[in-house]
Amino acid sequence: MDLALGNRRALVMGGSRGLGNAIARALCAEGARVAICARDATRVAAAAAELGAEGIACDLAVPGAAADLVEEAIRRLGGLDILVVNTGGPPPGLFVELDDSTWRRTFEALWMSSVGAIRAALPGMRERRWGRILLVTSVAAKEPVPNLMLSNSLRAGLHGMVNSLAREVAADQVTVNALLPGYTLTERLQELRLDEAKVAASIPAGRIGSPAEFASVAAFLLSGPASYLTGQALAVDGGLLQSI
Ligand SMILES: NC(=O)c1ccc[n+]([C@@H]2O[C@H](COP(=O)([O-])OP(=O)(O)OC[C@H]3O[C@@H](n4cnc5c(N)ncnc54)[C@H](OP(=O)(O)O)[C@@H]3O)[C@@H](O)[C@H]2O)c1
Repeated sequence: MDLALGNRRALVMGGSRGLGNAIARALCAEGARVAICARDATRVAAAAAELGAEGIACDLAVPGAAADLVEEAIRRLGGLDILVVNTGGPPPGLFVELDDSTWRRTFEALWMSSVGAIRAALPGMRERRWGRILLVTSVAAKEPVPNLMLSNSLRAGLHGMVNSLAREVAADQVTVNALLPGYTLTERLQELRLDEAKVAASIPAGRIGSPAEFASVAAFLLSGPASYLTGQALAVDGGLLQSI
């Protein structure tokens, strides 16, 4: 299938490694022009050079940074057709362990960066009557994961935003979806220090997923042929979620 992504202009937030990097790689392979961002300037420059993309250093946890990032990507690419909202994962922890400042910092990094980036990217997409917005969230938003209070709480709300926004902008031919990673082999997963053999055994597919498997679904959702698919929250999880 031709994904019709040639010359589409895409910003993948958090694209120096992990899932964001795999999505950026898939889009580059389809001929899109891509910008990525991350906090570590050296690493984002190296990843961008390897992909043939634009690399932009920024910290999405800083208020206003996401809007500035989108403006910079528009300046470098000459416009933006595709926005992948992918932020760093929130710290683990139980409710009783999390203080107000951790909740506020995480809300800023996860939630307000999503709002800021989407608000900055939408006007051009609506004007051109073509746009793809994809939020990378988590299976934790549908089935809470033990010890991930922040992720379980905040991401469920983002799915409400995806569903409502999708209907606000559908007539302008802009789609808005969420893609929910299950357990996927990235540095983030290693940071959580899980017993990987035990995790693999808990997944119906019997193994942890690869970033490339996740990215191929993302590339389809961001493609031309996915034009009638909007407001959805789709898990790529090897069968982990049991809800209908
Ligand atoms: N992997 C999984 O199994 C899994 C499962 C469920 C949900 N998720 C979620 O999916 C998302 C991506 O996960 P991943 O596994 O790809 O994570 P990862 O391997 O840690 O990569 C995260 C990427 O985002 C960048 N980043 C992190 N914080 C940032 C910030 N404040 N500002 C700008 N860039 C930032 C990182 O670069 P810098 O560190 O240089 O900034 C890196 O490029 C996360 O939200 C994660 O919680 C992952």
